[in-house]
Amino acid sequence: MAKRMGIYKCEHCGNIVEVLVEGVAPLECCGAPMTLMEEKTADHTTEKHVPFVEKTEDGYRVRVGENAAHPMLEEHYIQWIELIVGNSVLRQELNPGDAPEASFCCGHHEDVVAREYCNVHGHWTS
Ligand SMILES: [Fe+2]
Repeated sequence: MAKRMGIYKCEHCGNIVEVLVEGVAPLECCGAPMTLMEEKTADHTTEKHVPFVEKTEDGYRVRVGENAAHPMLEEHYIQWIELIVGNSVLRQELNPGDAPEASFCCGHHEDVVAREYCNVHGHWTS
């Protein structure tokens, strides 16, 4: 069964999908099961993959990471940053050469979670 909001990757062709609604069947691509990219986390002060969330005047800024910016090279970069606020999922897609950060003008909320995806090191959450 697919996991809602789960990020799945095809190890054969590189397709990556995010599940909006859980179905009963496992996700498949290229004739094989897709891999659930588990959300990793660690100490945000030392691990540069952990999204660091700061309040701004009108929302939030998410940096990857807090004390050392993640590389944004063609072969190793942050593909997207998500901010989950209540029932909303906000996503900023990034390209090599961009800053590893995103700003979201969404007001302030009680529960805010950030996630990011590194093309080499996978899926990370705050
Ligand atoms: Fe990385």
